[in-house]
Amino acid sequence: MVSLKYPQIAIGWFLTLLSYLPHVLCLNSLHTLQQAFTTMTASGSKVDVSKKWDVLGPFPIHAREQQYISPAFPLNLSEPIDYNKLWPSSYADGGNVGWKKVEVGEDGELRVSFPDVRWKYLRNFQGWAALQHHAVLRSTFKIHRPAADERKVRLLVQLRQGSYFTILPADSFSNITPRWYAGNIYDISGSLPQIVELPLSRTGEYQLFISGDYEIRLFGDPVTQEGSDVPVQKIILDLQIEDIDEVGYALEPAQNVICDFVDGYAFGDSIGIGLRNTGESWISVDAAKTVGLPAGLEVQILKTIRIAPGQTRVIPLKLRQLTRTEATVLDICLTVTGDQDSTYSKNLTVSLPIHHTTGWTTGSESRNAVKASFLFANSSPTIFVVIPPRLRGKGQNAPPILSLHGAGVDITYEPHFDFWVEAQPQNDYSWIILPAGRTSWGLDWHGPSTKEALDAVEALSEILQSNDAWKHQAFRRDTKVILIGHSNGGQGVWHISTHYPDRIIAAAPTAGYIKSQAYIPLTESRSAHFIDPSLRAILESSLTPDDNDLHLTNAAHLPIQAIHGGADENVPSFHSRELISVLKSLNPDGNLSHYQEDPGEKHWYNTVLNNTTVQDFIDAHIHSTAPQGHPSSFSLTVSNPTEAGPLYGWKIHSLTIPGRLGTLRITTDGDGLARVSTTNVLRFSIEDSKSLSSLTALTIASTSFPTGKFIDFPVHFVREKGVWTTTTESTLRSIPPTRIQTILSTLGTINIFFDGEPALSLAKRLAHDLHLYHRLDAEIIGPAATEDEERGGNFVVIGTLQSPRIRRLLETGGTSFNLRKGSLSLDEKEAAGDSHVFLHPGSTATSYKLVIIYSDVASLERAGRLFPIRTGVAVPDWLSLSPGLDRLGAAGLRGAGVWDTNWRYQESSSWLDNY
Ligand SMILES: *[C@@H]1O[C@H](CO)[C@@H](O)[C@H](O)[C@H]1NC(C)=O
Ligand SMILES: *[C@@H]1O[C@H](CO)[C@@H](O)[C@H](O)[C@H]1NC(C)=O
Ligand SMILES: *[C@@H]1O[C@H](CO)[C@@H](O)[C@H](O)[C@H]1NC(C)=O
Ligand SMILES: *[C@@H]1O[C@H](CO)[C@@H](O)[C@H](O)[C@H]1NC(C)=O
Ligand SMILES: *[C@@H]1O[C@H](CO)[C@@H](O)[C@H](O)[C@H]1NC(C)=O
Repeated sequence: MVSLKYPQIAIGWFLTLLSYLPHVLCLNSLHTLQQAFTTMTASGSKVDVSKKWDVLGPFPIHAREQQYISPAFPLNLSEPIDYNKLWPSSYADGGNVGWKKVEVGEDGELRVSFPDVRWKYLRNFQGWAALQHHAVLRSTFKIHRPAADERKVRLLVQLRQGSYFTILPADSFSNITPRWYAGNIYDISGSLPQIVELPLSRTGEYQLFISGDYEIRLFGDPVTQEGSDVPVQKIILDLQIEDIDEVGYALEPAQNVICDFVDGYAFGDSIGIGLRNTGESWISVDAAKTVGLPAGLEVQILKTIRIAPGQTRVIPLKLRQLTRTEATVLDICLTVTGDQDSTYSKNLTVSLPIHHTTGWTTGSESRNAVKASFLFANSSPTIFVVIPPRLRGKGQNAPPILSLHGAGVDITYEPHFDFWVEAQPQNDYSWIILPAGRTSWGLDWHGPSTKEALDAVEALSEILQSNDAWKHQAFRRDTKVILIGHSNGGQGVWHISTHYPDRIIAAAPTAGYIKSQAYIPLTESRSAHFIDPSLRAILESSLTPDDNDLHLTNAAHLPIQAIHGGADENVPSFHSRELISVLKSLNPDGNLSHYQEDPGEKHWYNTVLNNTTVQDFIDAHIHSTAPQGHPSSFSLTVSNPTEAGPLYGWKIHSLTIPGRLGTLRITTDGDGLARVSTTNVLRFSIEDSKSLSSLTALTIASTSFPTGKFIDFPVHFVREKGVWTTTTESTLRSIPPTRIQTILSTLGTINIFFDGEPALSLAKRLAHDLHLYHRLDAEIIGPAATEDEERGGNFVVIGTLQSPRIRRLLETGGTSFNLRKGSLSLDEKEAAGDSHVFLHPGSTATSYKLVIIYSDVASLERAGRLFPIRTGVAVPDWLSLSPGLDRLGAAGLRGAGVWDTNWRYQESSSWLDNY
């Protein structure tokens, strides 16, 4: 059955793809949802889902607040539900709401709306924030099993555009703590279902609860979307059932990764094969080789890949090409072994279609876009798209153009790929690089999405260098780039320009927004009515790295051309005007930042990037030799030094009070003397002699340093007892990253260690979410495993105070959390709270561990939801939780804070409720 809804429409922080791609509506069968209300396994088990839903809502909530508050709010699902009860809600006339009934539509879509609420009245004074709302949805389903079948079954659940779901037996409420599974709220294409282990139910009957949360950023403004004041949640649920065998696996072809072949040669060195463990025990893939034709290609597995029951991983393979090929398929044989049963070994052959293309069509200047691949974070085969320079043979001497897409654009998916390729400006001399951003939303071009964009530039340089046919078109690996982007990608341009300014020559952000908190204000926050504002400030400091406006000093001397449609209904042009206005305040005499507003144009129009303005701007900077040295005066602002690069070669490494902004101000007087003043900076460096330009001496605070004495670069400066001195790089240690979200910026597979069944369940859900939202590889590791430090990448460690691994971690004293007489202490005092989430140093200076300590299942569920899988979840370095979170959100915290530079408790950036 074909659903009438093109799954990617309406996504948009901005990319309303309906307006992008009206002609692809008929293509939606490509991504058709199996909207089957009865599904059956081979053995005859089946699941019947009711079309009837009970709905309670709407309740005010701010974006991402459902990660703090219980997804069942205002209910406690461990108690019976009273369907006649009214609950306070300030959205409703009279101030109360109750339950109502909704039925799934013919098209399989569950449309939840509250037309009795006077939304227009609310938005008159609260704006878009007043349309954000939360609702609880409840339905039932029944599983029928053939009497003779003893096997277990598992449920495969796809929830699109809902934030969380849980499944409970229908017959009993007592002693059941719901486990919440994240939905695919962005409706990311090619997503895998959540694998649900069913709780016991005597009758085979279950109830299903969904947290339905309307977010403007995701679903759009109903007035422009549907010409109505009433926001409508459009939720799609798909349940499948699967018999579980002792050992088993299934290919997941939608997760495969393979690059194009250009003139017979692979345009990349990485291949990925999606494999799901469908059995009850763990499996490993430890060998891979090509079989049959085509000759001339070899693959090698990077390491043994262990897959937990129900988990999917993308097997990373290194591709080596010996000779040119014309083959149209690549057959790869994987060896799968069972972990429990050492005699279990199967060879499995996968056929990957090879797409051949050419860089340029013969005899003309017309070029093709090419899908390239590389290995991201030493673990995840990743596609990016490149468009060759229009002139054949060029590309070596001009900087590449890095172009960031809007939210919801999946560059690996044909209609989106074509759309985004055609949207690019014309260019004769440069390669244009279109990174994936991890996924169509990724982390809004922050964290791993930023890293992927910059890594794709290096990867293209290497692909070109590695083949004689392309070598003459290769640019330098460490080249700077011209950065452009639209919508979410426009915001990404502002983010990367302000956080990695030395990588950028010039930037053209179009239809970008300042930051998420400025796009939909957090006005409707529930926790704000209960929380100490000083705790709120500490929590929100974890969003400071996302505050692009606060980092604009770093782009004050960068050529910038902002463009915005004057009638943008999705990202108001106010955002670009405001950013440019801030730049003009920071550098009033410069004439570097320009703003073009295209009157009457909406969010997307075909010429927003493909326009003479962008073209002329790019051409002006492509051949300009970047000015040597630095401006006579400039400032570097940094909030999280682990996610910020240098400015003119000056780099901040650590802050005196992490969590607050740090600023380095350099002013030169024309005689080679520079005065350096700092706010909240503990340590900075100067990368090389070029960064000093023609300076002969520096005065930092009141200490003078003749630059002639600087022999070895980088030169590091550190502030000790109020006095600045130089120091060596070797004293650099691991710096705490100020926010838990940095765990996503991994240099390898994310290793998730669990101890206990509830922890394993959370580990599987986190691994699923890391793959869905960021295509990050995760390995789930049991309590018996050792050799932690060899693994590389970041760690997540989940356990109780009784878990040996947790005890060992606490005993090493990596942070201020310690074991004292068998209980947990923080800074020598008993740690309040029933679960704790905190960052801990990793085994290298650039890796981290996230520790989750729980006491019971409910406390683990609360802690697990704070894993910052999406932008805007305010979680600093450490948090202590209580059951109060379920009702009060962040106001239920018992403590939170940012570590000092030594990973210790720091009074000035902490809050505790038991002092
Ligand atoms: C799988 O292939 C390898 C050679 O690549 C062979 O040695 C092994 O016997 C095969 N295993 C099975 C179960 O066929
Ligand atoms: C981009 O602009 C060029 C020159 O103005 C034009 O020839 C081309 O058709 C445009 N591309 C698209 C997709 O509109
Ligand atoms: C500023 O730059 C714009 C565009 O490059 C140019 O048209 C304008 O004349 C410049 N203004 C000044 C005062 O230099
Ligand atoms: C650039 O965009 C503006 C505004 O949409 C449009 O009027 C103009 O024709 C475009 N120019 C080119 C060459 O595409
Ligand atoms: C939910 O209800 C159960 C059972 O009555 C109770 O033990 C638990 O504390 C409640 N949870 C919260 C957060 O109030």
